[in-house]
Amino acid sequence: MAAIVVVGAQWGDEGKGKATDILGCQVDYVVKPNGGNNAGHTVVVGGEKYELKLLPAGVLSENAVPVLGNGVVINLEALFDEIDGLEARGANASRLRISANAHVVAPYHQVLDRVQERFLGKRAIGTTGRGIGPTYADKVSRVGIRVQDIFDESILRQKVTSALDVKNQILVKMYNRKAIDPEQIVDYFLSYADRLRPMVIEAELELNRALDEGKHVLMEGGQATMLDVDHGTYPFVTSSNPTSGGACVGSGIGPTRITSSLGIIKAYTTRVGAGPFPTELFDKWGEFLQTTGGEVGVNTGRKRRCGWYDSVVARYASRVNGFTDLFVTKLDVLTGIGEIPICVAYDVDGTRFDEMPTSQSDFHHAEPIYETMPAWDEDITGCRTFEELPQRAQDYLNRLEELSGCRISYVGVGPGRDQTIVINDVMES
Ligand code: GDP
Ligand code: IMO
Ligand code: MG
Repeated sequence: MAAIVVVGAQWGDEGKGKATDILGCQVDYVVKPNGGNNAGHTVVVGGEKYELKLLPAGVLSENAVPVLGNGVVINLEALFDEIDGLEARGANASRLRISANAHVVAPYHQVLDRVQERFLGKRAIGTTGRGIGPTYADKVSRVGIRVQDIFDESILRQKVTSALDVKNQILVKMYNRKAIDPEQIVDYFLSYADRLRPMVIEAELELNRALDEGKHVLMEGGQATMLDVDHGTYPFVTSSNPTSGGACVGSGIGPTRITSSLGIIKAYTTRVGAGPFPTELFDKWGEFLQTTGGEVGVNTGRKRRCGWYDSVVARYASRVNGFTDLFVTKLDVLTGIGEIPICVAYDVDGTRFDEMPTSQSDFHHAEPIYETMPAWDEDITGCRTFEELPQRAQDYLNRLEELSGCRISYVGVGPGRDQTIVINDVMES
């Protein structure tokens, strides 16, 4: 029995999709525990590129059952578009299962996301505009709509009407928008009911039974630690808990069952959207990482902000997630750059911080303190063992391991499924 959590250690887009894809062929279930169609997970199989937004990357694994857990927020239109798109390419999404307790994104959540961002002006979060924040806000305010509500028309009507009672006041009086007719929303949800019904399960029960039977479950987190609403750079975060504790909550798998907590971390750092980012580069190196790394957001097409590896962030992520293993991705992008800076601590107005500052203002002022290591010039994309890597690449990884508070068990040397070095296999841990 293995219950493996895969979560992002930085600000997202670390390569969680690729990591899941590699492990997906060895597990029975791949569950998405948080987020919605704000994610963008890329998997490259045999030269074919798939970009998954709402579905877990495990949908591409031949035998694993993909599950959208209770902690996910589902845009039904996006869900069926994604399924249809995959099936048109020959993938099989028919095994997909959905928790009856997952919440659904309503069209009014998307409207609110956009008007709220516009209203914030310069203080905007830079959300993906997919209605994620407003849907989670409704969940916590106990006025959300769950998947199971769609199968009881009278409950659905009651819930939509009461949610819109307040929202229409806000839309009309604050944002100068038209009121939304509850019946339109009810019809929107009902139009998906027949297609949705056969996919819905008691996910918590099925997943725990699978573990009881000795099967393997992987939880594929969306977003990342520094975007966590509790542990991230609040308020510049998403509205869920993309940390390993959140994966337990969002799937109904208890923490005592987790066998590995695998942090996915790039050999440098990127961020999409607004918010502090101490190692961000505004010079030719930032541009180099952006272009060489192909750092463009899957979901919104925005260029990702780029910077050097931040071991303060890595140590913090190792701590709050209880990482057992790290998967360092995109090492190949650093080939031939001469010297590689690594952020080891911060300077905040003359004071050294070896660990993440608690105060948001301090983090906004944090200046990275770097040490540098020599880069290698050899092409590493064909390396398949740690020993095959040039000595300088090995030294860089060894240093990252020392600084990051967790052993490195996987290294990515290219986007392809096979372009991975396995040092410790989490399935055997
Ligand atoms: P996710 O959101 O964490 O799943 O990551 P994304 O898919 O948004 O972004 C990661 C990008 O890096 C994708 O384009 C992947 O194909 C690519 N990628 C993943 N691992 C590697 C690697 O080791 N080397 C290179 N060059 N690209 C990688
Ligand atoms: P994956 O799973 C990178 C960012 C947005 C914005 C903030 C809040 O591919 O790593 P939201 O729409 O969630 O309310 O936006 O979070 N964000 C991501 N950044 N990768 C993601 O997902 C992200 N999902 C949300 O850019 O700054
Ligand atoms: Mg992504």
